[in-house]
Amino acid sequence: MKIGTIKESKNKENRVALSPDVVKNFIKQGFECVIEKGAGLNSYFTDESYKNAGAEILNSASEVCNACDVIVKVNAPSYDEIEKLKEGSILVSLLYHLTNPALIAALNAKKISVFSTDAMPRISRAQSMDVLSSQSNLAGYKAVILAADHAPKIFPMLMTAAGTITPARVVIFGAGVAGLQAIGTAKRLGAVVEVTDIRSETKEQVESLGGKFISFDIGEVKTEGGYVKEAGEEVLKRQREILKKHLATADCVITTALIPGRKAPVLITEEMVNVMKYGSLIVDMAVEQGGNCELSKPDEIIERNGVKIIGLTNLPGMLPQNASEGYAKNIYNFLTHLATKDGMKWELEEEITKGTLICNKGEVLRS
Ligand code: NAI
Repeated sequence: MKIGTIKESKNKENRVALSPDVVKNFIKQGFECVIEKGAGLNSYFTDESYKNAGAEILNSASEVCNACDVIVKVNAPSYDEIEKLKEGSILVSLLYHLTNPALIAALNAKKISVFSTDAMPRISRAQSMDVLSSQSNLAGYKAVILAADHAPKIFPMLMTAAGTITPARVVIFGAGVAGLQAIGTAKRLGAVVEVTDIRSETKEQVESLGGKFISFDIGEVKTEGGYVKEAGEEVLKRQREILKKHLATADCVITTALIPGRKAPVLITEEMVNVMKYGSLIVDMAVEQGGNCELSKPDEIIERNGVKIIGLTNLPGMLPQNASEGYAKNIYNFLTHLATKDGMKWELEEEITKGTLICNKGEVLRS
């Protein structure tokens, strides 16, 4: 069975879905791997390194798609790429199927069996296949590094002959995978870190990393499949009131709060930005889902009353080597879970398949 990947066509995407190490592992398991020429270059994986791992290099995406039974990608394919996919083949990729019904219909028309890597169920067994975790972890790190780079002051306390520099105050919204990594990174840089999350069980995790939890009593929060369900406007209003005074003293704010399949909750209004210190900044990691700050703009850094609002998307793509390695390992764990000696097989009722399989041999299962 041939597994292949092509160069990502999305603007500013540096990641690739297979790494040389993972190619080596697939080959050990009896698969063949095919890579489009130059597909790994932006992640600093040369064609030579793929060849040494045992992959075949082909000159174009069309040739790779023609040759392979399974195509793995980071981003959802473009319509052009769907044209190239072989009828009846398997596609494994980020798809965000709920927001992409037309794309799903186009894939289904070619009877492609489509597994969406962003729809992995949050169960222990699937942890090693969870691309959102591997990528959010890196994004949380990068968000803090970006904040430190843009801040007009240092993060740690520094005692010098000229006097003492106080540590930066960092406020983090959301203590999921990205938020927890952001806490660890900001603490390692010496900042004082405060954190809020709607799930009260995160308090213990935040404190174990040295963060101070900002509590606000909203009772039990409903979750579904490991994800928090949307908070009502009343809850958000109360939360904003409490957060306002923490924003007023913050040097950096990092927002990671998401509700799967929905617009991100607005936790920082324009009025709240106006109470922030001149020279402070916000890194809005939820900007692609509408933003946790109502002023942030995708892929822009704007300034309002001396407050920088950083809305860069695809933070994992700014660390392409680790991000591609992590993504490729998740793909390896997922595909070897499906693999049998007679090729890829799945049962519709199995939990991981049930979560990720969007189209099955000409039938749309989830839209
Ligand atoms: P996420 O990316 O969906 O959301 C980020 C964080 O925002 C969450 O902690 C959420 O509670 C928080 N949030 C939502 N609305 C908020 C609001 N109004 N104010 C403040 N915070 C708000 O979550 P993520 O990072 O994917 O992780 C959620 C949980 O799932 C974590 O406990 C994580 O460890 C777990 N998980 C389990 C996996 C598995 O078992 N396979 C895989 C990935 C995550």
